[in-house]
Amino acid sequence: MYAPQGDSELLLKALRRAPVPPGARMLDVCTGTGVVAFGGVRLGASEVHAVDLSLRATLTARWNARIRRLPLTVHRGDFLERAEGRFDVVTANPPYVPTASTAPPAKTKDRAWDAGDDGRDCIDRLCRAAPGLLAEGGVLLMVHSDICDTGRTIGLLQGAGLKASVVSRRAQPFGPVLRRRAPWLEYRGLTAPGQREEELVVIRADLVSPGA
Ligand SMILES: C[S@@+](CC[C@H](N)C(=O)[O-])C[C@H]1O[C@@H](n2cnc3c(N)ncnc32)[C@H](O)[C@@H]1O
Repeated sequence: MYAPQGDSELLLKALRRAPVPPGARMLDVCTGTGVVAFGGVRLGASEVHAVDLSLRATLTARWNARIRRLPLTVHRGDFLERAEGRFDVVTANPPYVPTASTAPPAKTKDRAWDAGDDGRDCIDRLCRAAPGLLAEGGVLLMVHSDICDTGRTIGLLQGAGLKASVVSRRAQPFGPVLRRRAPWLEYRGLTAPGQREEELVVIRADLVSPGA
């Protein structure tokens, strides 16, 4: 189970600044404990959906919503398969850690960070799907590490017709998973020699109507 960390916190701060329009319909993909989705409810979204592949995460998010008495609809499954309709706000803290393994993560907990050899399995899918998830004027906020190529995310979102930029950054020391993989990340050229810090970025993408 992914306990909220620096990336969750950075995404929540960006959500507070977004802002969330009153009565917004919101989708939080890769919700984990539901921490970002709860932020949306508290900021005034009237309908908030949260999706996660993990059974443990969905049970935790439902339980957290219940004890906080917050209205949240939690779906279990792949984020693209379970998202229905269009949303004014979409938030995402997807798995983004590059992994040497070509097989899907063996342990459920590894799905919280393992994301293919460039860390972009979920990110690329979300970038391509974003125009179909957003309502007109809708906003996507996604957090990931600069290790998995911020420029590529911006390029994909812009290529999909969205206005996209980095709205927030924060440097932080590698956590345990990145520390273990540091020699391999260096070997792949994804990090500089001796690098033990990553920069987290929040990317904002807006679906703007032509002429707006
Ligand atoms: C980095 S954690 C983020 C958790 C939470 N949003 C937060 O910020 O603390 C990523 C989450 O994505 C989930 N996940 C991984 N692949 C997924 C997919 N294809 N569809 C939906 N959820 C997925 C994992 O189970 C994990 O809970």
